[in-house]
Amino acid sequence: MFRHELIEKNAILMLVLTLLTVAIGGIVEVVPLFTIETTVEHVKGVRPYSPLEARGRDIYVREGCYTCHSQMIRALRDEVERYGHYSIAAESMYDHPFQWGSKRIGPDLARVGGKYSSDWHYAHLINAQSVVPESLMPHYAFLADTPLETADAVARMKAQRAVGVPYSDEDIANAAADLRTQADPSADNTDLLKRYPKAVTVPGDGKQPTEMDALVAYLQVLGTMVDFADPANEKPRQ
Ligand code: HEC
Repeated sequence: MFRHELIEKNAILMLVLTLLTVAIGGIVEVVPLFTIETTVEHVKGVRPYSPLEARGRDIYVREGCYTCHSQMIRALRDEVERYGHYSIAAESMYDHPFQWGSKRIGPDLARVGGKYSSDWHYAHLINAQSVVPESLMPHYAFLADTPLETADAVARMKAQRAVGVPYSDEDIANAAADLRTQADPSADNTDLLKRYPKAVTVPGDGKQPTEMDALVAYLQVLGTMVDFADPANEKPRQ
């Protein structure tokens, strides 16, 4: 009782003790961030996005798809039954910024890769109601008519590398070729798959990829990198 009064009557002492209390809270929040490299465990299969997928991701962000779609399956039974294995931290370790999202006007997209054919995605993005009549998703037909800006693909990969995405010099040197190959079903994709396993080739025209090609390549890889049938990849809930 007396000590409490002592603190309340002494403004300086109160200030010092308040700062100390706030500092402890701050340290608890900030320190784990310094160890993020060791906090997020690397899981087999997780790789950086291919150049085309990465550009698709840029378009996803630009169009604000995250305002209606989350990319994080929570460890709750109804979510796991609907969307598949709950999301693990490693799956978004190369996402800058991550796309976890807080709003689900549409379904979660963390594991949409491989759920539909690429043709379905083209049709759905052009006019969602043509494949899901009750859908309220807007139309993105213009993406199919917009040539993909590719000149800055290398600069974008270097920027991602600067924040920790492990693109090798070889990945960067082959960016332009990989970009075209992934949107050209008649091209030989052996090298592309060596660099980016499970990269899905989308049905582009083989000359100039469109923004739609990039977006579909991105959607098709979401959630497919980790093989959850492999028991080594079963992670505790996090
Ligand atoms: C206004 C909200 C809204 C926006 C913005 C939106 N969507 Fe959707 N999306 C929906 C709704 C609602 C559905 C469920 C009905 C359907 O399948 O069309 C959906 C469904 C989907 C599906 C199918 C998911 C599944 O598992 O069946 C995909 C893929 C998708 N959206 C991608 C996108 C992409 C990519 C963008 C940005 C270019 C986008 N959406 C923007 C509302 C939205």
